[in-house]
Amino acid sequence: MDFLKPRYTPMNRRRRIYEGKAKVLYEGPEPGTLIQHFKDDATAFNAKKHEVIDGKGVLNNRISEFIFQNLNDIGVPTHFIRRMNMREQLIREVEIVPLEVVVRNVAAGSLATRLGLEEGTQLPRSIIEFYYKNDQLNDPMVSEEHITAFGWATPQEIDDIMALAIRVNDFLSGLFLGVGIRLVDFKIETGRLWEGDMMRIVVADEISPDSCRLWDIKSSDKLDKDRFRKDLGGLIEAYTEVAKRLGVMSENEKVQGGGPRLVQ
Ligand code: TMP
Repeated sequence: MDFLKPRYTPMNRRRRIYEGKAKVLYEGPEPGTLIQHFKDDATAFNAKKHEVIDGKGVLNNRISEFIFQNLNDIGVPTHFIRRMNMREQLIREVEIVPLEVVVRNVAAGSLATRLGLEEGTQLPRSIIEFYYKNDQLNDPMVSEEHITAFGWATPQEIDDIMALAIRVNDFLSGLFLGVGIRLVDFKIETGRLWEGDMMRIVVADEISPDSCRLWDIKSSDKLDKDRFRKDLGGLIEAYTEVAKRLGVMSENEKVQGGGPRLVQ
């Protein structure tokens, strides 16, 4: 995991709070805020596979901004405040719930493998799964029983998380359907946002082709990180296509190499 070592050449010396596989969090300009920086690193299989893909961070920043802004606008609470530049957004500091919440509409990936389902089969209804966020353990799938017994979230919080996940799924399914894309499945993370004595669960992290399975409706082409996981190539082209269809990038905009970057 060499690429997780500090390698930021600061333009202005901001305090680094946390570095993950695809993003870095810096101290924000005001208390209770953070800056979320999107790197170009792509990883899969718990970082056993790693590559730097020029421009991926810029695309994910823009696509995630668009989705989170829309969620805010329809009253689905998120940590997102605003995009700051090509690779960074201002977010509210939240206490991350250590769960990866996966919503599935169509059989694919680990579900298809685990239950022997044919990829592409429409599921009888949307299914929510929880995975415990722990790289050492490879993010194992867990049930509500595990979550409450080990205190990762309360029963009320699980209800809130599931309600949020369903709203995000309904919004995203419609959004992508409108631009000819099938939302197969996606992952969200949630966090506790404190406002005085009040706490509420909000959508956090990112929603991008890194965290969704997106298939072109006509051709079934994969427009997501499976292009990297499965060595299909054309990741930047696919993410650019998603950005263009969502209208967040104009037809002739190029992302390669833009914006403030992390350097070796
Ligand atoms: P899976 O089929 O591999 O369990 O993935 C389900 C969805 O979750 C898929 O859209 C990809 C996303 N995902 C992540 O965002 N991060 C991860 O670490 C994994 C394993 C999946």
